[in-house]
Amino acid sequence: MNLPKLVTSSLILVLPGLTFAQEGSDLQSIYAKYQLEIVVGVAAIVAVLALVALITALLAMKAMARGRISVEEESSIISVQPGEEGVGFWRRLWNRLNDSVPVSQEETVLTDHSYDGIRELDNRLPPWWLWGFYISIIFSVAYLLHYHVFETGKLQEDEYVAQMEEAEAEVQAYLASLDNLIDETSVTFTNDEVDLLAGQEIFISKCSACHGQNGEGGVGPNLTDKYWIHGGDMPSIFKTVKYGVPSKGMIPWEAQLSPAEMQQVSSYIYTLEGTDPVNQKEPQGELFEREEAAEEATEEDGQLVEAGM
Ligand code: HEC
Repeated sequence: MNLPKLVTSSLILVLPGLTFAQEGSDLQSIYAKYQLEIVVGVAAIVAVLALVALITALLAMKAMARGRISVEEESSIISVQPGEEGVGFWRRLWNRLNDSVPVSQEETVLTDHSYDGIRELDNRLPPWWLWGFYISIIFSVAYLLHYHVFETGKLQEDEYVAQMEEAEAEVQAYLASLDNLIDETSVTFTNDEVDLLAGQEIFISKCSACHGQNGEGGVGPNLTDKYWIHGGDMPSIFKTVKYGVPSKGMIPWEAQLSPAEMQQVSSYIYTLEGTDPVNQKEPQGELFEREEAAEEATEEDGQLVEAGM
């Protein structure tokens, strides 16, 4: 009985130290240097100790069981044995998990120690507790290997970082989905420099062939004057870009540009009015006067874009 106790108590002392050995000031440098060696060595020792403890405990339990039977026979204690007739499975399980010498039979496990009249019993450890302990030892080895040796598991900090990244991606996805909700009823002019530059890029690569490098017009109408065939406010421009005018040679861009991109290029076009480029195509459509507030914004953005070019 002393060997298992020794092993058990040394494990109790050693294990928490191992599991949390990642902290510590002086030890830390040593630990950092020989991390793998230490962890593997300790894991091996723990594994061996756990095995020894298990075997010893099993042997001890066997011996105890044998001893108990003889005691029970002597005093005709009726302790429930597995397989006993007429006893339900749960009842047997319960008895097994709580297997200890009953109070009425305490005399049989009384030791001869007496501390100021307090006498010591050497009862069995409750099996549920003992097995919980063994399982926790096995668990700790698995834990150690998983997190510190093979590093297949993420430690707290990595887990935190990973979760933050995940959340950030979700936020980005959400914002993108908001962008994709933009349509001709909700679209607004965006003053954002990044958006306008992106819009300009789209315009030059996809639209300038028909509308001219600076929107002065070509196959398509002049986009810098105050005359618009399909309306010169943001929702109208967006709508023309989105659905096109297929019968007149203006492509619907819905399938090729995302709503956000259509907003960018529409906003860029919106800033072109009044930029007065060379080789302008003659006005087409009707004169469209913008509202005061929009006019101011456009002037600002016109400068901004000119500076950007
Ligand atoms: C293949 C040539 C072509 C391309 C490429 C083209 N357009 Fe057009 N676009 C036209 C034509 C032609 C019209 C005039 C349609 C009409 O007469 O109703 C037009 C009209 C427009 C109008 C309406 C102008 C008004 O006066 O109401 C806008 C806005 C416009 N295009 C934006 C764009 C944008 C943005 C792109 C690029 C993403 C683009 N276009 C690419 C040919 C083109």
